[in-house]
This record gives sequence, C-alpha cells and structure tokens, in this order.
Amino acid sequence: MSASNVKYLRGNCLAGTISHPRILIHSCNCNGSWGGGIAYQLGVKYPKAEKDYIEICEKFGSRLLGKFVLIPSYSDSTLLIGCLFTASFGGPNQGSGKTILENTQLALEDMRVKLKGGKLNPGSDVDGFTSQMMEKVKAKLRYRLDEYALEMPQINSGIFGVPWPQTEKLLKEQHSLSFAVYVL
Ligand code: APR
Repeated sequence: MSASNVKYLRGNCLAGTISHPRILIHSCNCNGSWGGGIAYQLGVKYPKAEKDYIEICEKFGSRLLGKFVLIPSYSDSTLLIGCLFTASFGGPNQGSGKTILENTQLALEDMRVKLKGGKLNPGSDVDGFTSQMMEKVKAKLRYRLDEYALEMPQINSGIFGVPWPQTEKLLKEQHSLSFAVYVL
C-alpha cells in the first residue's frame, strides 16, 4: 500500500513556534466574514490578509464557490493563507454538508491547478482575478512556491459541522498533493 498523502500533527496550527514555509489552508464563506474558528484567529493575527479576503468577497460573492485564493499573511514571510471557498455564508446550518463537500472538492482541484501552474478557464473573470492575485503573491515570495508545505486544521469539521472523514477522503483523492493536518 502506498504512503498516505495526509499526515497528522498534534497542536495549534498557528503556534508561534512553527517556522517552516507553509500555506495554511482553511474553509471560507463568500460573505466576507472571518468571524469564528480558525478564520477568526487568522484575522486577529493577520488583519491585512483579512482585508484582502473581504475585498475579494465584496467583488465576487458566491461566484467564489469552489475556488481557491492565495493571500499573503503580510507580516510572516513563512506563512501564506490558502482560502477554499466552500459556502456562501458562515456559521452553522450550512445545509447537509453535501454542498460544502462538493465545493471543497472543486476548490481543492482549483488549488492543485493553481499551485502547479496549470491552465484555468480563461473566460471567467473570477479565475482571471484569482490567478492574477496568485501571480502577485508568487512574485514576492521568499521561497519557491513548491517549498511551502500544505497545512490545515481539520477544515469543515468545526463551525461547518461536516464529519472530518468526509473531508479527509477528498484530500486523499488529491494524490499529487501532500497535506499536514493539525489536530487539537
Ligand atoms: N489549530 C488547530 N485546529 C484548530 C485551530 C487551531 N488554532 N482552531 C480551530 N481548529 C479546528 C477546530 O477544532 C475544527 O476541527 O479547526 C477545525 C475547523 O474549525 P472552524 O474554524 O470552525 O472551521 P470550519 O468548520 O471549516 O468552518 C468554516 O468558520 O472558520 C470560519 O469563516 C470560516 O465560515 C467559515 C467557517
């Protein structure tokens, strides 16, 4: 059996002791709210990144569903913030979780294409804008993009209430990517 592309680490994914280059990936709503959970913690630590996130939500709203957006943390050269747009609104009661999982799958695929420099739908202004954002972030990186580890908390399983194994299954389907998942 081949080794899993999903590894687990214990602890706070935003601990100050973590110093290697990484993309901290989390599940976002399209409503411009980093009001709870890991998103809230990111907003407190990286307010300039939250401003970028709000701006992109104001621009595209729910058209961001199923998309991946890379945002600099600005104050930490080893940390980038990876946003998977998985629900229109924040908070619990986002349906059965089925649409969150469908959007997670699409956003992970979008992330894979964007990280590996593949071609996106040229006709879509959302893809055009988010790809341009990605290029701007890449132009200012301290390390090569492929040197940033892909890390996350157990996304979707907190406020969004989706049982973790269902999200883990989607990560495992992304064979060409490796993920480190922090468990509190
Ligand atoms: N380190 C590791 N794990 C954490 C941390 C942390 N610092 N903070 C939270 N977690 C864990 C939670 O225990 C949960 O298992 O992250 C997981 C995801 O929880 P949420 O942050 O509630 O995120 P999610 O369920 O994906 O819901 C997303 O909430 O984060 C907001 O704005 C975001 O609307 C979106 C929704």
